[in-house]
Amino acid sequence: YQILNGKYSLPGLPAIYATEDTKADTLIITLEDTRHCFYVHIYYGVLENLDIITRAVCIENHCSDDLYFENIQSTCVDYLHGNFNFHTFYGRHVKERTHQKSPLQHGIQSIGSTRGTSSHQYNPFFILSEQDTTEDTGNCYGFSLLYSGDFSGLAEYDQYDQTRILLGIHPDNFYYCIKPGEKFYAPETAMAFSDCGLGNLSHIYHKAYRNNLCRGKYKTARRPILLNSWEGVYFDFDGDKLVQMAKDASELGVELFVMDDGWFGKRDLDVSGLGDWLVNEEKLGCTLGELSERIYKLGLKFGIWFEPECVNEDSNLYRAHPDWALQVPGKAPCRSRYQLVLDFSREDVRDYIFTHICQVLDSAKIEYLKWDFNRSISDIYSAKLPAKRQGEVAHRYILGLYDMLEKLIQRYPDILIEGCSGGGGRFDAGMLYYTPQIWCSDDTDAIERLSIQYGTSFGYPVSTMGSHVSKCPNEQTGRMTPLNTRATVAMSGTFGYELDVNQMSDEEKALVKAQIKEFKSYDSLIQNGNYYRLTDPSEAQSYHSWEFVAEDKSEALLCIVSLQIHPNGPGNYIKLKGLDPHSAYLIDGKKYPGDVLMNGGLLLPFAKAEYESFRIHITRC
Ligand code: GLA
Repeated sequence: YQILNGKYSLPGLPAIYATEDTKADTLIITLEDTRHCFYVHIYYGVLENLDIITRAVCIENHCSDDLYFENIQSTCVDYLHGNFNFHTFYGRHVKERTHQKSPLQHGIQSIGSTRGTSSHQYNPFFILSEQDTTEDTGNCYGFSLLYSGDFSGLAEYDQYDQTRILLGIHPDNFYYCIKPGEKFYAPETAMAFSDCGLGNLSHIYHKAYRNNLCRGKYKTARRPILLNSWEGVYFDFDGDKLVQMAKDASELGVELFVMDDGWFGKRDLDVSGLGDWLVNEEKLGCTLGELSERIYKLGLKFGIWFEPECVNEDSNLYRAHPDWALQVPGKAPCRSRYQLVLDFSREDVRDYIFTHICQVLDSAKIEYLKWDFNRSISDIYSAKLPAKRQGEVAHRYILGLYDMLEKLIQRYPDILIEGCSGGGGRFDAGMLYYTPQIWCSDDTDAIERLSIQYGTSFGYPVSTMGSHVSKCPNEQTGRMTPLNTRATVAMSGTFGYELDVNQMSDEEKALVKAQIKEFKSYDSLIQNGNYYRLTDPSEAQSYHSWEFVAEDKSEALLCIVSLQIHPNGPGNYIKLKGLDPHSAYLIDGKKYPGDVLMNGGLLLPFAKAEYESFRIHITRC
């Protein structure tokens, strides 16, 4: 073994890094398989003040033959006891990361993805908690995989009532050749322990991911409040319409205008054009440079959508290079949203797309990029690899994705990249290393978002959750919710709007203006404060609530959404968390002792209608 100062990094893969004020050590344990001549180097990163231990694995072939591996797990942890609850985060498109807690039974419980992405269905993060663990008390252990592709996570409760967990790349379809002298790195796991409940476990991850995983200018800088064109106009726009949208938005205080899908190739619907990253100047009525200039003149930054990994068959790119899409020879590939997936395991394919993206980015003033990916990956077969090495393609694809994202952020360090995959289909710690925020879900309904953002908060900070106010009735559910409530929910994320301001009444516009002003005043508290889950939306009856508390406990923001109204119901008292019990706090001009707010509770305002919401600012006297 070796003990080294500082935190290791992994070639081509995301990893938590140490900053100047992080105390970090690396332990490398080397095991040798003398029969087959290979080493397994197990890397541990010990980040003392983050309270995180990481683990990754490197396999080194030192024999003269190729070695083929069928399963390489990043982390294996054994507990001498069992009786745990297994917390996982399952979902589907427009319903991501639903928290589920179930007792471990004898046998194996597992989650995973073989969809080529970390997936909407299961998130690569889980928790083991002891039976009596709550939000505020008890022991729990978190396991988070910094990887965006196929993964497997499992917990086995065995014959001796002991528990083993395993987490790493999914072994299905995995078959990797390591050539003599080569090394293979399995992705990193970030592990954390809390002896005071799930809330504290989340705080550990939030701080580590905010400060030691996310990178770039926007790691600390306030993210601009944006207006995204998608739900406002979908594909139906030209340059003038976009400028009008941006103008309306700028008058309300919006800082960034994002032109979503539909600006390139032949793209008036989702059936064609993907892959042709050439600005459709005919549709826009101007060049991209001119459009961005007009938007900058309004005092707004400008951002743009891409889906670099996919291609429509109805595109010039596909017609010229059909073999660039993943497809099994002799079989018709499986389409999803009318598109195929480009073979990102191939450098030539990536180089082509990268060059075209750079041409677009260099042709205008662009400060934000939405990197979307709108399907699962199937037909995983690369024309560049021999049949017996096809088991490498899914992992090579993810390495290719990371490689291209890394090149992009090196070349455009000041561009804010937001990840997206049909909403939150690739919301994982691996992507956060490249994209400091990720669109949380295509479900923009504020009430649905309560459980999506609640589930996401167990493993990921609020500063990473893309969240927008959208129109009413909601596009996904048809539900009506007050504009104020839509803002309460979107403010508990990166905060932005996704609607056509032109369709709003003057009263609504005035509200939006006030919301933006208000968000700016809470911005650091929301993005950097400690986030407390006060209720569980799956159990909450009358209301759901959560709270942000500044690190120094000097202020807090309490958010409440009313769910059901019961006439002549009892008053709702909510017990706050994280305040200083010995300090007094001011709420609406009234003084309350911190310990009373936390142990007795605050009487909530009376909601007059379902889905009304409140944001209560609390300051230390
Ligand atoms: C995905 C994204 C949306 C939007 C559309 C555009 O569904 O999640 O936000 O960008 O693609 O096609």
